[in-house]
Amino acid sequence: MTDRLILPLPGSEAFAERLAIAGGFELGRLESRRFPDGERYLRIHADPRGRPVDILCSNADEQFLTLAFTADAVRDLGASEVTLVAPYLGYMRQDARFRPGEAVTSRTFARLVSVIVDQLVTVDPHLHRFAALGELYDIPCTVLRSAPLIGDWIGRETPAPLIIGPDAESEQWAAEIAARAGAPCVVLAKRRIGDREVEITLPDLGMHTGRQPVLVDDIASSGRTLVAASEALRKRGFAAPLCVVVHAVFAGQAFADVSAASARTVSTDTLSHPSNAIPVAPLIAEALANLPRSGRKP
Ligand code: R5P
Repeated sequence: MTDRLILPLPGSEAFAERLAIAGGFELGRLESRRFPDGERYLRIHADPRGRPVDILCSNADEQFLTLAFTADAVRDLGASEVTLVAPYLGYMRQDARFRPGEAVTSRTFARLVSVIVDQLVTVDPHLHRFAALGELYDIPCTVLRSAPLIGDWIGRETPAPLIIGPDAESEQWAAEIAARAGAPCVVLAKRRIGDREVEITLPDLGMHTGRQPVLVDDIASSGRTLVAASEALRKRGFAAPLCVVVHAVFAGQAFADVSAASARTVSTDTLSHPSNAIPVAPLIAEALANLPRSGRKP
């Protein structure tokens, strides 16, 4: 067992357990409850003295204060360094001021996280207008890619797949997944009309007739991207697609909608969801085991 201590925020306990087993790390427990006035009580059940502590949190929106309190508490209790492990990194999508007066939350969130932890480890962050997390975060960031795991999964589960990225942004991981699965790859054109409205245009797919379409995307949120792409493919005479996403956000009815439009919908387990089929804990465990130490004195 290494000296790393894994500490899950509420909701991340199951993932943290898988991570601790995969890496041979100690799993700590965070006791968390509300005082009668609604304020948060926290207590760490583990000894962080002189060791790196990895705080697991994929829902920093709801849990930002808990994250800040926990990071500060473990540091106060002697942790040598504090890493935020966010298998899904939130606040990556509002990365520009699209209309006057809008908050550019990607920047603010990154600034705040950079103050409260020493390092960040995440899987496939949604990088669109920023090329790298280093443009947002002031701390060392380790970005892990799930494409090899997804490519291997598709290669095992799907005969004659055609890997399809639903928009230009998805080309980066669609191409890597296709190469890994030994399959051809195409990228569709998407125009987002609103939060829940997208328009998909297909290129000529004649040479791929008879293949099983596999839509791959980093995030399914409203699910409209996958639904519109699935419908467009069906209209061209393809079988119902398999949909594979990295981060299963699936807001509201999204999962039901995508499931109805596809043959099967699966995801990695960066966010806990019934569609989870591709575990990323071993990938993160390996990265943590090899993480450079900051050398900060407790
Ligand atoms: C595009 O920016 C992303 O890669 C996804 O295609 C998008 O986030 C999916 O969102 P929704 O499920 O709301 O269409």
